[in-house]
Amino acid sequence: MTTSPQRAETARLVKEAADIVTVIGEHVQLKRSGANLKGVCPFHAEKTPSFMVQPERQTFHCFGCGEGGDVFTFVMKYHNLTFPEALQELAQRFNVTLPERAGGGGQDQEQAQKRQALLDANEQAAILYHRLLLEAPEAADARAYLAKRGVPAELAERFRLGYAPNRWDFLVKALPTAGLDLEMALAAGLIVKKEHGGFYDRFRDRVQFPILNLSGQIVGFGGRILGDGQPKYLNSPESPVFEKGRVLFGLYQNREAVRQARRCLLVEGNFDLLALLAHGFANAAAPLGTALTPAHIRTLKGYCDETILLFDGDTAGEKAATRAVPLFLSEQVTARVVLLPGSHDPDTFLAEYGAEELTKMLAEAQSLPEFFFASLVRRHGLTVEGKSRIVSELGPVIAAIGDNQMQRTVFVAHFSEKLGIAPAQMLGGVSRLAVLPRAASSVRAADQALTLSLQERQLLEFLIAYPEYVERFLAAGLADLVTSSGATEILARLQALGGEEQAAGSEYLLDSLVGPERAFVSRVLLNTPAYSVEQREAIAGDQLAWLAREGGRVRRERLTRLLGEAQQANNEALCLELMARLRDMDQGQGVSV
Ligand code: GTP
Ligand code: MN
Repeated sequence: MTTSPQRAETARLVKEAADIVTVIGEHVQLKRSGANLKGVCPFHAEKTPSFMVQPERQTFHCFGCGEGGDVFTFVMKYHNLTFPEALQELAQRFNVTLPERAGGGGQDQEQAQKRQALLDANEQAAILYHRLLLEAPEAADARAYLAKRGVPAELAERFRLGYAPNRWDFLVKALPTAGLDLEMALAAGLIVKKEHGGFYDRFRDRVQFPILNLSGQIVGFGGRILGDGQPKYLNSPESPVFEKGRVLFGLYQNREAVRQARRCLLVEGNFDLLALLAHGFANAAAPLGTALTPAHIRTLKGYCDETILLFDGDTAGEKAATRAVPLFLSEQVTARVVLLPGSHDPDTFLAEYGAEELTKMLAEAQSLPEFFFASLVRRHGLTVEGKSRIVSELGPVIAAIGDNQMQRTVFVAHFSEKLGIAPAQMLGGVSRLAVLPRAASSVRAADQALTLSLQERQLLEFLIAYPEYVERFLAAGLADLVTSSGATEILARLQALGGEEQAAGSEYLLDSLVGPERAFVSRVLLNTPAYSVEQREAIAGDQLAWLAREGGRVRRERLTRLLGEAQQANNEALCLELMARLRDMDQGQGVSV
């Protein structure tokens, strides 16, 4: 990147004008925290805010993922822009005049110019389509279609809906007349190259939905055929300005409503979104016919605390909801789900039952993971056999997670806890469990005799398989949280192993135990799959995080109890000390007692 003195000067002016709190605050919910502001990081999955904005220094920093920088860094990363584009975008918004070509030369600048040209082509096409829809005689059917579908005129205006006429050369002729380069229209996917030279329009005889990014620029179109026909929707192809996995239709227009409601209604179809608006539900957005992605969810969490999936009641809706479960779990975003009755989508539901009925359904929205789990339990029950069927049904969902280790770990931890089985059984023991229900149930009997808490069981299972982690877990306060006699016994033996690898230590471990403890350990040793080092680390990380949280709670309880006793005994010095320790804990300094 070349930096001319002129560009540096422009950047300085823009930086002065573009307050970082204003810019970031548009996409991240920020709360005051002393001199700084705090929010949930848009660049990695987290629930507890570790994303800091420092107005004094006009910088941001995330203590979770290490991302940080100034207002330009944020805009570049968040909107996926080059520096000149970020500069230009901010200059425009904050009314700083850029000298010609302030971006300087170089590749960045070239990219930025190309992107701008694509946006210009889309913008011009939108103007042409929209004008046609409003007034052209040849758009009469399109207007009738929108009226039939209950789209009010002001929504068609606000969303800049348009009509692509039933002609092969509408844009091909009109864009050059407006001074636009057809090569750019080609790159934007508005037109298509003919085999023997020349171009033709991609969108013909369709209602056009402009798709806006979060800066309000048109990055693509969705074209709905009038009436029946294939394909029902034609979307712009991906381009340097259009990534389907990042954009949500309607979010730009509805962002204030989403923010105010602190909740976003996520629907599947463009018409669903319009129908919601027409019925007074302004806080909605829709992915573009693609599965939800982490990028979608991270975008949403800057605008709201909760997402409600409002999906068709048919199997496709349930499937889509199911696929979203690991995603929301791992992004740590609260999601609820409403499956509409019959084969209704939000559009047809509202037409038939009205807004009040939808409000009722929304009030009863179920937590997404609970919804998913409940549907499994409804179908299979929680008998040993039922659980084993549930585990086999979770298999494909786990497989569909792909190689996102975080999603997998959180998903498995969540559902193994709900089922009261070992995470290992879910990851590796699926077939064993299905083939050997007898063995599984006799092992369960042994577990029960042990009366371990669920968390104790999970911690021990991991440590039995990987005793090299015992020291780290103990340092994190494991002993405080292992309280049942069976678990204490096993932990003591594990400690005595001195962190030896499983192969060397397991024999000794088994020999040193009797009864239910021995049965438990032997079952774990037989069933734990060989996790890769990364898998082990991910699981250990989760469990250590739980230890830290839970350990804090236990220590707090103990301090509070001691404080009560000290007050009873009028021991003022001790009271003060205990109160100081509690205060330290509230400020996040892990003090042990
Ligand atoms: P209608 O109510 O039937 O007009 O459609 P809808 O707006 O309810 O959409 P639907 O629920 O059928 O589909 C959801 C989304 O998937 C649409 O908004 C499109 O983005 C996408 N989609 C639907 N059909 C097609 C198709 O044939 N091709 C492509 N590429 N995308 C489609
Ligand atoms: Mn529909």
